[in-house]
Amino acid sequence: MSKSSHSSEHSHDHHDWDSEKYVSNWAEGQDKKEDQRQEPFQVMARTIPYDKNLSIRILDVGAGYGALTQALLNYFPNATAICQDGSKEMAKLGQERMAKLKGRFDYVLCDFSKPGWSRKLTGPFEAVVSSIAIHNVRSPEIMERIYKDIFPLVKTGGCFINFDRERPPLEDQMKWLRDAGFQDVQRFWRSENRSLFGGFKK
Ligand SMILES: C[S@@+](CC[C@H](N)C(=O)[O-])C[C@H]1O[C@@H](n2cnc3c(N)ncnc32)[C@H](O)[C@@H]1O
Repeated sequence: MSKSSHSSEHSHDHHDWDSEKYVSNWAEGQDKKEDQRQEPFQVMARTIPYDKNLSIRILDVGAGYGALTQALLNYFPNATAICQDGSKEMAKLGQERMAKLKGRFDYVLCDFSKPGWSRKLTGPFEAVVSSIAIHNVRSPEIMERIYKDIFPLVKTGGCFINFDRERPPLEDQMKWLRDAGFQDVQRFWRSENRSLFGGFKK
């Protein structure tokens, strides 16, 4: 997976997800802020249109060390998850951090900016989710394609919900979701710089 960077305006957004040191520093910084995203994660869990006792399958796109996966597997005690990510280092950290959930999740390594990435994933999933990951690709065209790639992975009756920056603008992202085939596309929650948004596959 290539390094992602942005314009100088956002130079703090330069990432090197393949580096063990970068990943461990990022995770350490994120740990201090982890409480702040429990609310959107809980809103996401309640928005997934299945009873919490069902054995649903969840796909977490760009799962990192599994913060969102953990929240959802705790909310849905019979669910299992596929954690997709492009970084071996993140997957290694996720295996360690989610040791208590062993047997309920697997990592699949692939780069979602590359055409064909979704063929490595065996759907359909009742819920495809993502958290502060897809904006990393920077290119609006690639993000639009990723949303198109996600649609066939979602089971009819299921949903795709993304917790991410409004960059590109949310209106554009919601249009791409509708164009991909999702219905009832909406924003479920927002903070100063992040939104929880998505749609349903009817
Ligand atoms: C900011 S972290 C978020 C991780 C996790 N979702 C969370 O909320 O804690 C972004 C994640 O996206 C992954 N990522 C970035 N670009 C990617 C790509 N092109 N393909 C696959 N994963 C990618 C990184 O490896 C990293 O784990």
